[in-house]
Amino acid sequence: MKGIILAGGTGSRLFPLTKVTNKHLLPVGKEPMIFHPLRKLIEAGIEEILIVTGVEHMGAVIGLLGSGYELGCRLTYRVQDQPGGIAQALALAEHFAAHDLMTVILGDNIFQSDLKGFIRRFEKQGSGARILLKQVPDPTRYGVVAFQEVSKDGQTSHVISDILEKPEQAPSDYAVTGIYGYDAEVFEIIRGLKPSTRNELEITEVNRAYLHAALLQHEVMPGWWTDAGTFDSWYYANSLMFQPSLLASENAD
Ligand code: DAU
Repeated sequence: MKGIILAGGTGSRLFPLTKVTNKHLLPVGKEPMIFHPLRKLIEAGIEEILIVTGVEHMGAVIGLLGSGYELGCRLTYRVQDQPGGIAQALALAEHFAAHDLMTVILGDNIFQSDLKGFIRRFEKQGSGARILLKQVPDPTRYGVVAFQEVSKDGQTSHVISDILEKPEQAPSDYAVTGIYGYDAEVFEIIRGLKPSTRNELEITEVNRAYLHAALLQHEVMPGWWTDAGTFDSWYYANSLMFQPSLLASENAD
């Protein structure tokens, strides 16, 4: 299992904080934001990790994280020349992935639960894709799933029928978080994508391709989750990271 952190993009929703630095270098809690997804991967036992970021701030990211030795991982870096979307950033991981399964995290996702269970279940799944959902009060800010009720042998269950990127009207309040499991077929899927109306290669289209091939599994994330890409959510992420209970457990160490 390889780990990939996507930390490119413009960070425009946090301007002017992101005028001279990368969003993922801003503090969340006591560390720069990018430490958060990085530690989650390392804690889950992933040692080979690729970081994708833009050319402007790659030097600062490498200056911060180096080879990964101090953190207990081996880091590889790739430059995304233009912020052409999450799927475009992921395409840069093809050589690094070398046909292995991948756990991909968006660099601005901050969450409570550890990823061990998710990764174990994806390894057991063995191929295809796996996404983590979270119930949110403001689903139109995210990729959102639509569910369909299916009855089989007298049992009713809910399956995902579609995924919509920032829809005007949300079909459910389950957001697709920025934590994904993919097999190496993902690169073939990305090659077939066309830019969206906002001129990006959308990760939601990747997930829809797996869904339509009946190769997408999902689970609901326990604990709290947020992105940190807007002022409101960045503030919220910081307030969560400074919760007295978290500080207490840290101080107890
Ligand atoms: O946080 C979860 C959401 O993230 C998902 O629900 C959405 O489906 C997904 O599209 C994404 O939405 P955002 O609007 O929050 O994406 P944003 O453009 O803020 O990018 C999120 C991260 O992805 C960012 O922190 C770095 C990385 N990224 C983004 C772009 C556009 C790149 O590495 N390269 C890029 O070109």
